[in-house]
Amino acid sequence: MDHRRARTLNLGDFWQGDDLDPLRAPPDFTEWRSATMAEQAIFQRPLTSASGPRTSFLLHGERREVINLASLDYLGLNGDPRLVAAARDALQHWGTGACGVPLLSGTTTLHRELERQVSASVGAPSTMLFPSGFSGGFGLMSGLLRRGDVAIADEKAHMCWLDGIRSSGARLVLYRHEDPKSLDEALTEHRTKRRLVVVDGLYSMDGDLADLPRLLDVCDAHGVGLIVDEAHSIFALGENGGGATEVHGEQRRVRLLFGTFSKSIASLGGFASGDEELLEYAKLYSHPYGFSAALPPAIVATNIEAIRIARTEPERRRRLADNAAYFRRAVCGLGLDIGLSTTHVVPILVGGERDLLYDAALAMLERGLYILPIDYPAGPEDRVRFRASISAGHSREDLDTALGIIEDCVVRPLRARGKLAT
Ligand SMILES: Cc1ncc(COP(=O)(O)O)c(C=O)c1O
Repeated sequence: MDHRRARTLNLGDFWQGDDLDPLRAPPDFTEWRSATMAEQAIFQRPLTSASGPRTSFLLHGERREVINLASLDYLGLNGDPRLVAAARDALQHWGTGACGVPLLSGTTTLHRELERQVSASVGAPSTMLFPSGFSGGFGLMSGLLRRGDVAIADEKAHMCWLDGIRSSGARLVLYRHEDPKSLDEALTEHRTKRRLVVVDGLYSMDGDLADLPRLLDVCDAHGVGLIVDEAHSIFALGENGGGATEVHGEQRRVRLLFGTFSKSIASLGGFASGDEELLEYAKLYSHPYGFSAALPPAIVATNIEAIRIARTEPERRRRLADNAAYFRRAVCGLGLDIGLSTTHVVPILVGGERDLLYDAALAMLERGLYILPIDYPAGPEDRVRFRASISAGHSREDLDTALGIIEDCVVRPLRARGKLAT
């Protein structure tokens, strides 16, 4: 396949292959993949050191350190010696694996302690753990919903919820992003059904916060419960790290608060916090809880220690907020569009310039900045973007260096194409 043509295609073009054998990759996909190897090289690139505010890669056969705006280690905890020590101690005591699913033999006293710590952190009566965030969102939906139900989600809700809803047999209805009127219409249209509503606390592609008070007013008016996925906000936002829910003071009205340990906690796992009876029920019907191995004890110990640090070192959240505000202001100062972002997730929109996205990402990597493109269909085709994830661990020098590279590799080419005012 010709490289120029290959660059006009995207993942959406290969979703439904013509081949009769589902265990064979569509030949045009394979051709496209090999024609765009240079572009693909920005993804799944093996790191050679920890994914923190800085990391390293092999570039042209040499190990190169880069500033990392692609890590979700928002509090700068990855590699913290206290987390490493907690994991090492747990490895020595518990061994390497949980060796069972949570529902049967995989739960240890450490898992129970983590549940208590999470409940105390978010002010909920009870918490249930999952092997990953994705399996948690998926499992809750597939376990709690059934055919005939209607699950109403913001159109930008994370894939784990959408896949889980689809697999439950319930009807998935998307309402317009952050539009209470659209939510109200969806709830009204399906008023005769069992319904629930799912939103993200912080939207991971746009960096905006859900307006929980307005959405909850609509849900309350319909007597329908709301789940908030705080994957990108838990421990990163709110005075005590309680996420968007705490920022809005909505701990009482949010029915189920969901989060992950894979971002601010720099580890692995998912959790749901809320009503104890509901969670005891979910444990029996959410299949990732009954059919997938429990988190290894060393990971659980890491999570407990990271939560302790996140709760006792609020200055990390303040540094994160300061860094994020500094970066957002500076990116806007370069004339770039950060869309809806008000947080540490900062998209840099480049319109429909998909080819620039890849050329610039590779050029930035060469210059010492790792920042990932978000291409269609992960976001709208006319609003492709880079996503910068800011960390409390970035120094001002890191951010200034990154901004200089962004100016050279993104701003200048956009200007040259007439896509940005000079
Ligand atoms: C909003 C949201 N929910 C859930 C998940 C899944 O979490 P995990 O990566 O911990 O499985 C992600 C992952 O990026 C996410 O962004």
